[in-house]
Amino acid sequence: MKKLLECISEEVMNAFEAAGYKREAGRVSVSNRPDLCEYQCNGAMALAKEAHCAPIQIANAVVEKLQGNAVISKAEAVMPGFINMFISEEFLAKYVGEMSTADRFGMDLKAKQKIVIDYGGPNVAKALHVGHLRSAVIGESVKRILRFAGHEVIGDIHMGDWGLPMGLIMTELKERKPDLVYFDDSYTGEYPKEAPFTVAELEEIYPTASGKSKEDEDYKARAMEATFKLQSGVRGYRALWDKIIDVSVNDLKKNYEKLNVEFDLWNGESSVHDIIPAMVEDMKKGGHAYISEGALVVDVKEETDTKEVPPCMILKSDGASLYNTTDLATILDRNNKYHPDHIIYLTDKRQELYFVQVFRCARKTGLVPETTKLTHIGFGTMNGKDGKPFKTREGGVMRLEYLVRDINEEMLKKIRENKGIDSSEAEKTAEVVGLSAIKYGDLSNQASKDYIFDMDRFTSFEGNTGPYILYTIVRIKSILEKYKAQGGDMTAVKIGTKPQNETEKELMKALTGFNQMMESAVEELAPHKICAFIYDLANALNSFYHETKILTEENEAVKSQYIALIDLTKRVLETCIDLLGFSAPERM
Ligand code: ARG
Repeated sequence: MKKLLECISEEVMNAFEAAGYKREAGRVSVSNRPDLCEYQCNGAMALAKEAHCAPIQIANAVVEKLQGNAVISKAEAVMPGFINMFISEEFLAKYVGEMSTADRFGMDLKAKQKIVIDYGGPNVAKALHVGHLRSAVIGESVKRILRFAGHEVIGDIHMGDWGLPMGLIMTELKERKPDLVYFDDSYTGEYPKEAPFTVAELEEIYPTASGKSKEDEDYKARAMEATFKLQSGVRGYRALWDKIIDVSVNDLKKNYEKLNVEFDLWNGESSVHDIIPAMVEDMKKGGHAYISEGALVVDVKEETDTKEVPPCMILKSDGASLYNTTDLATILDRNNKYHPDHIIYLTDKRQELYFVQVFRCARKTGLVPETTKLTHIGFGTMNGKDGKPFKTREGGVMRLEYLVRDINEEMLKKIRENKGIDSSEAEKTAEVVGLSAIKYGDLSNQASKDYIFDMDRFTSFEGNTGPYILYTIVRIKSILEKYKAQGGDMTAVKIGTKPQNETEKELMKALTGFNQMMESAVEELAPHKICAFIYDLANALNSFYHETKILTEENEAVKSQYIALIDLTKRVLETCIDLLGFSAPERM
């Protein structure tokens, strides 16, 4: 479906042409003086010089051609040559009516691309903390937005599961339980099914081991050796590692499920271990990789750089691979398996320079074709009210599950105030609404910006919040239920006649912005555009609701349009929150 602004522009362009001027001058924008008009065209001013006449003359001639227009109800030329316009209410209603029956509310599909999105990025055997929240929340939304636009999108969690942390855990385990069969090199039998630890133990073991390695050189050397043994395939170490992965992944799945985040691939850094040697060989053969101070590196600086971009390190001097190495090999692997048109990464923006290095290195060494787009979306930090990275009350790193728990508790308190809801429903509802508070609180900010996690504001039912959006949807659901209970037939309602009042018109206008908004959300990979749109739409709906007697309207045709209009609003809101990664309860 054509965007509303395109429909209007087309009329004005036709009018320019009919008046003897060039079409392109007829482009229309939303008015920057809504007190004067709804839309404006400034083309006459730009045209004046080459047409050798005053802009107002052109504007007058164009306005004349717009008389009786079906799309533009009123057009006016004002000094020095602006064309101010209002949209025809009949046309507006017809447009919204079409939207309401069109697929994706009239948004056209994009030329299909294959896209891999790398997000989440948890490290196994470590508890998820709030830093991982943003990657998961933004990544999930970007994935859904791209799918909605018609692309084929593969979401990959890319776990940190292969480096020194694994060796540290194994070293500490050996310290505590030296008799475990995994450490017996002569053992040839099957390994036990049960893991020799729980997830809680793992989460305690890692920081302990990491602490020890910082103080004890010998301990660190043993950890490095364990890492080496794992990576070179020593049977017992691999078997033990499998257990670490099993236990962690199980736990991660539960956590991500609670966040309504779903991955297609549960690959990790380890997945590409076997293709690293050949990749490194190719880089050497291609003349790109060379030894510098013992390490193998690829230069990635460019003449136009204003900041220093250090070489990309491929192998450490002891021959061990690094975070870079697995990322490069993962690009190679993704290209071999999926031939993606685009790979998108979601991490903290502190990894910006790192991704510049990795992307340049991948291009220079030909891991992906020229045409493959590589994008890093670097996000800002979630801060506490003190403006510093969000911490627990005791000042420690906040575990993601505690944050979720705290917000759900707060929501539960508010929901219990609604006497109509029984206690088990209240708990479920609190989880649904709590998730909207967290996700909307995050996604309503431009990703690259830091934001302040404000429990009171995020959980409020008023203002620019997730719960407010859900409250609006629930309000519509309740009106529709009553309509049906009165014998109303939802299949018969339709939109098509001009609005009865200003708030109905404003609601229609808000709805028409969907197409345009989605296009830029897709283009810019920007969920915050959806948030801004649904906030305006929810406001328009609520103004309409307060000004209009919907269910008691006596004129059946008018009432039918009201119902169809709020139903469309509900469907648009529900689609949008699904793109943001949360849903609405039945009541709240
Ligand atoms: N595990 C990493 C971390 O916690 C994030 C991984 C991001 N993805 C990637 N392909 N490097 O910082």
